[in-house]
Amino acid sequence: MSDKLEQTIQRLVASKSDEEAKQVYAEWQSYDSDLDAYGYIAPQLMANKLIAEIDDPGALIYDAGCGTGKVGAALHTAGYQQLEGGDLSESMLERAEALGVYQHLSVADFAQRLDYNDNYFDAAISVGVWKDHFGLVLTNELLRIVKPGGHVALSIRPQFMPAFDAIADTLTKDKAIRICCNDLDDYIKGQQSTAHYVVMQKLV
Ligand SMILES: C[S@@+](CC[C@H](N)C(=O)[O-])C[C@H]1O[C@@H](n2cnc3c(N)ncnc32)[C@H](O)[C@@H]1O
Repeated sequence: MSDKLEQTIQRLVASKSDEEAKQVYAEWQSYDSDLDAYGYIAPQLMANKLIAEIDDPGALIYDAGCGTGKVGAALHTAGYQQLEGGDLSESMLERAEALGVYQHLSVADFAQRLDYNDNYFDAAISVGVWKDHFGLVLTNELLRIVKPGGHVALSIRPQFMPAFDAIADTLTKDKAIRICCNDLDDYIKGQQSTAHYVVMQKLV
């Protein structure tokens, strides 16, 4: 990895506020080419795992933390065209807009209630976003906006799994969700960087 990329990732890891992270993403104009060269395969892997569960190209899907649109591009290439996306960073949203694969994009803050009605989407997907300080709100909100029987797909880095497991255990015991898959796989290929790829189905 180049020194510049290492420094950018370190700035993101060390960022103490959403404003700081937004600034890093705004400056990181080479996000796509850097991560493609680095072997960032999480968007494609997570999209594949969601598609394996839903198998309906007509599904309306929300991409939470769409960034520059890598997840949307993977879904679109697989024939999924009913896509909406949200992100905190206007700069990332502009780049996602330029891809032309989302029908609607909007600013969203995953520490807050999302501006969608209950049971609106068939599925939601979120890659490279989940952190413990807003993970509970994000998970509950994505489950709120998908229909009963719908799916929520989340990539979660290993350091956040204890926090996610606590949430998922409660939801499973309450029979609110079923875990369809929870696979540990590469996050960045060949870098000993992994993530859990979780797909949940909302039961009620
Ligand atoms: C590592 S990028 C992943 C982007 C895209 N999903 C991908 O896989 O390429 C994380 C994205 O999450 C967004 N994000 C981080 N915290 C957020 C929050 N609290 N609310 C909304 N978006 C957030 C960032 O702006 C950034 O675009």
